[in-house]
Amino acid sequence: ARLVVLVSGGGTNLQALLDACDDPAYGATVVAVGADRPGVEGLARAERRGIPTFVEQVAEHRTRQEWDAALTKACAAHSPDLVVLAGFMKLVGDDFLREFGGRCVNTHPALSPSFPGMHGPADALAYGVKVTGATLFVVDPGVDTGAIVAQTVVPVEDDDDVESLHERIKVAERRMLVDAVGRMARDGFTINDRKVRFT
Ligand code: GRF
Repeated sequence: ARLVVLVSGGGTNLQALLDACDDPAYGATVVAVGADRPGVEGLARAERRGIPTFVEQVAEHRTRQEWDAALTKACAAHSPDLVVLAGFMKLVGDDFLREFGGRCVNTHPALSPSFPGMHGPADALAYGVKVTGATLFVVDPGVDTGAIVAQTVVPVEDDDDVESLHERIKVAERRMLVDAVGRMARDGFTINDRKVRFT
């Protein structure tokens, strides 16, 4: 299966997918990596492997809708079977969902439906939960609200700060992402009334 991965920063989730794709049995290839800003390490990880990259910056478009249309076009140019948002910090819009809805997944560093949005680990720490984790879901028009594909749980330690907690989450998140994307790529999946099942 052909994967396009969208990043906004360090790209360690992307790196885990790139490493997994080195094994032909994994059944997927990252055919392009896109970002909403230039010069991020996630793009460099792709460039180091000669994988095509693209950047679509909101600020370079007159409207958010035009940005969304440009992002959709840039992704579609690589004919992905599955788009993976891995640390992509923008909300995709109607054009994108029209084109990729149902075959775009996003990973979020919290146990949905808890703690949606930009600060999942910080919100979990502030709330005082004893376990948190990460969620892979199929993107829908909401904010971190799509049908859940996979989840992974990590403990919150008494001496955690946001960084130590997010690091622990990310170790488990990368494993969850690689396992789930591989199964979706190899076996396919169905979504009915929010239940996501690997076929
Ligand atoms: C991940 O935890 C992702 O869920 C969150 O931001 C982090 C990105 O990490 N949105 P990386 O860029 O993949 O290292």
